[in-house]
Amino acid sequence: MRIHILSLFPGMFSGPFDESIVKRAVDRGLVEIALYNIRDYTWDKHHVVDDYPFGGGQGMVLKPEPVFAAVESIRGEGATPVILLTPQGRLFDRAVAEDLAAYDEMILICGRYEGVDERVREHLVTDELSIGDYVLSGGELAAMVVVDAVVRQLPGVLGAEGAVREDSHADGLLEHPQYTRPRAFRGWEVPEVLLSGNHAEIEKWRKEQSILRTLERRPDLLERADLPADKRMILDRIRKGDC
Ligand code: 6GU
Repeated sequence: MRIHILSLFPGMFSGPFDESIVKRAVDRGLVEIALYNIRDYTWDKHHVVDDYPFGGGQGMVLKPEPVFAAVESIRGEGATPVILLTPQGRLFDRAVAEDLAAYDEMILICGRYEGVDERVREHLVTDELSIGDYVLSGGELAAMVVVDAVVRQLPGVLGAEGAVREDSHADGLLEHPQYTRPRAFRGWEVPEVLLSGNHAEIEKWRKEQSILRTLERRPDLLERADLPADKRMILDRIRKGDC
């Protein structure tokens, strides 16, 4: 997959993309990330990217010309998603990450200042995404979140087969608790079942824990989850007070 990112602060991406999973995916040729400075698509002497809002008001607005020029210099023909990161977008979640992972290419535009000229929304972008109900100083951190979540979904990125499937949220539930050595830490013991070697029991315990945890912390996810029959049965048992 090729990911193009348009930003006024492309330097912000160097830390997060130079470590860990995203870096490994880039090094292995599974994803290509191209950064563009929106300021490079201005042709006036002072490389102005923003201007006062028509009608007055606080703050500056990102001008349309450099954003259109940047996107048009990148985009070939075809259905490449052009996504504006903005707190006004629809909420980014696992399902959106999975959808985006199916494309060969996407273009992310990081908004800044008080806003982006409305004609960018109306005539250039195909989608607008937000990563949550709070305001960030710009779309850059949100773009990093989107890239990380999408790259994890690409085939071959996660070492262990099935690691994506086992992610929290992969089946609409939160992940079960994890333990590693030592068996007893400051007197706190690892649950006995995990030491039993009984794989069927361990699987059952993990499913129960995953459902209990989701019920406690994110009941909204359970409402939407499309549970397989065995988990549906465990949930019904828990609801009847059986676990
Ligand atoms: Cl995508 N951008 C900004 N500026 N703030 C946000 C956001 C995006 N998502 C949540 N807050």
